Amino acid sequence: MRAAIALGRRALGTTWPNPAVGCVIVRDGAIVAQGVTGPGGRPHAEVQALAMAGEAARGATAYVTLEPCSHYGQTPPCADALIAAGVAHVVIAAGDPDPRVDGAGIARLRDAGIDVTTGLLEDAATETLAGFFARVRLGRPLVTLKLAATLDGRIATGSGESQWITSTSARKTAHAMRGCHDAVLVGVGTVLADDPDLTCRVPGFTSRPCVRVIADSHLRTPLMSRVVSTAGEAPTWILHRDGADPNRAAALSAAGVRCIEVTADDMGVAPTAALEALGQAGLTRVLAEGGARLAAALLRADLVDRLAWFTAPGIIGGDGWPAVQGMGVSRLADMAHFTRVAQRAVGPDLLAEFTRVL
Ligand SMILES: NC(=O)c1ccc[n+]([C@@H]2O[C@H](COP(=O)([O-])OP(=O)(O)OC[C@H]3O[C@@H](n4cnc5c(N)ncnc54)[C@H](OP(=O)(O)O)[C@@H]3O)[C@@H](O)[C@H]2O)c1
Repeated sequence: MRAAIALGRRALGTTWPNPAVGCVIVRDGAIVAQGVTGPGGRPHAEVQALAMAGEAARGATAYVTLEPCSHYGQTPPCADALIAAGVAHVVIAAGDPDPRVDGAGIARLRDAGIDVTTGLLEDAATETLAGFFARVRLGRPLVTLKLAATLDGRIATGSGESQWITSTSARKTAHAMRGCHDAVLVGVGTVLADDPDLTCRVPGFTSRPCVRVIADSHLRTPLMSRVVSTAGEAPTWILHRDGADPNRAAALSAAGVRCIEVTADDMGVAPTAALEALGQAGLTRVLAEGGARLAAALLRADLVDRLAWFTAPGIIGGDGWPAVQGMGVSRLADMAHFTRVAQRAVGPDLLAEFTRVL
């Protein structure tokens, strides 16, 4: 199961709207085949592994990170494929909360006389499936907020200079993070200040089609910006409010940008509506990279599931940009609270990772 989980983890960011599932087939104590969800979600991991195993699947044990599907979608059910291949035992890490499955895959296997074990390494597998689970259960992608700040929590100088606060090593790590997310999300303030590419530029990850998403109520993203001028090479989506200039929307669309209208609030596009729109579009894992206003909006709306916080060993001072804009918190009891789950040095910087306290 550890091998199956590792397979799934390597496919993160490539399988949306489907989960990144891993499958390993074992016979007589040896691995005879393995499979992982293909790009865009197909083929499913079990189908790939069964094809590799051929006759060796008969009487074998299949380890799958997610309950095999039991419904006819664009492909026949994986539970049926396992039954037809003569697999004797299926070991499943986590159940599939998709209402079309939700225990029906397990029941189908058991009804066919297959021995089924559930819950093996469930927590570790759930970690790789969390984006899919968020989309099924909450109707929105899993959101990781990534920020790079100084020791005093500044992400730019008062004049707006932010490139670069952290080291090359930290930036490479951040690029690899993009590679295992379906999309990167920033506010238009960051596009106007930095004109970023928002692509994944570390070896091994460059071909990953990470979607660039910009929260931009009034379609202020410049047509000459990097995210727009490269929209033909990597997807660029803009979330805007109603009443945004239709001529601008047409020009951006002509440049290859997907413009998505969402409900607005006082601050811009409403964060909950924005993330629901991204969920409807199929995204399961979003890496929000700021800036300060968007970070505050997501935190205020309680939409940040994970934090990836790089700290550079420098101090800018109070006239710099805070990592997070004002959130109107007056009582400590009301602050956004997280649990630290990991920390490590990345070159001269620190990376601390947190999950939300529910
Ligand atoms: N070090 C880092 O990790 C890091 C990362 C990113 C940015 N930065 C720096 O941060 C600075 C930019 O910060 P920023 O706060 O101006 O940028 P931002 O958060 O990227 O963008 C803010 C803009 O996003 C739009 N927006 C749409 N919906 C929103 C909502 N619900 N809530 C808030 N904003 C929404 C608003 O413009 P409209 O009203 O026009 O929609 C708003 O002005 C730059 O200096 C940049 O270099 C640093």
